[in-house]
Amino acid sequence: MSRLTVTDLRRKKAENDKIVMITAYDATMARLVDASADMVLVGDSLGMVVQGHQDTLPVTLDHMVYHCQAVHRGLSHAHLVGDLPFGSYQTSPAQAVDSATRLVKEGFAQSVKLEGGVSMAPAIEAIVRCGVPVVGHIGLTPQSVHAMGGFRVQGRTEDGADAIVQDALAVEAAGAFCVVLEGIPTEVSERIAEVLTIPTIGIGAGPHCDGQVLVCNDILGFDLGFRPTFVKRFAALETAIKGAFGTYADEVRSGAFPAEEHTFHMASAPRKVANLY
Ligand code: KIV
Repeated sequence: MSRLTVTDLRRKKAENDKIVMITAYDATMARLVDASADMVLVGDSLGMVVQGHQDTLPVTLDHMVYHCQAVHRGLSHAHLVGDLPFGSYQTSPAQAVDSATRLVKEGFAQSVKLEGGVSMAPAIEAIVRCGVPVVGHIGLTPQSVHAMGGFRVQGRTEDGADAIVQDALAVEAAGAFCVVLEGIPTEVSERIAEVLTIPTIGIGAGPHCDGQVLVCNDILGFDLGFRPTFVKRFAALETAIKGAFGTYADEVRSGAFPAEEHTFHMASAPRKVANLY
């Protein structure tokens, strides 16, 4: 089976076929999401859900390369997008090209994602000029958490909404082949859908997008204490996983595991211990 390309993804929008994007951070999860997802994003959200940080800012380009490599090994169908982490592309378009090149050359990403609209258009243009497809990311951009004063929905005012529409237009004009819309009112993503020709992938952006993305841990319910409005859980695995670990621990402690069927034997009958020493 071959990987979906940017051409396949553009065709999906043309055919009104919704695009499914799911994050993954390792080869096991990649193998599990591969059949369902059109695009698998190795997101810098791994800083929070894998590394345990409060935000995505500590994630480095080396971390992203490492996780892209692992996810690449688990995929055979879905398109692999690598996220450019904070500090790896904002300094200059040249820095953005160098970082994108590493994600493609070393991490096997088929495209890269970066946050920012109008201000990041020169970086997007430079990467696209090198032949690397770019996914934009506007609205609530987690790498700007301090500037936004927290993880807050953006574009609730007319001026705020206009600024996000301008960002969307700038990202498309710079050559991005699709754009993630995060944490914006559905009215704003509807306006964006009217003016853009590239696919929009929403997360907390309502139903007017051409696709949706969620973090794999949220879909699976790994953390039942975490329940933002935009997340729908499709399983509650925290309960199942803790239950399985608990049963394993009980059986080890009681001696019920390992049983005869989990046990190896010598090929021939062992000599009596008394004859060995
Ligand atoms: O880092 C990430 O996982 C993301 C998605 C949530 C869009 O940027």
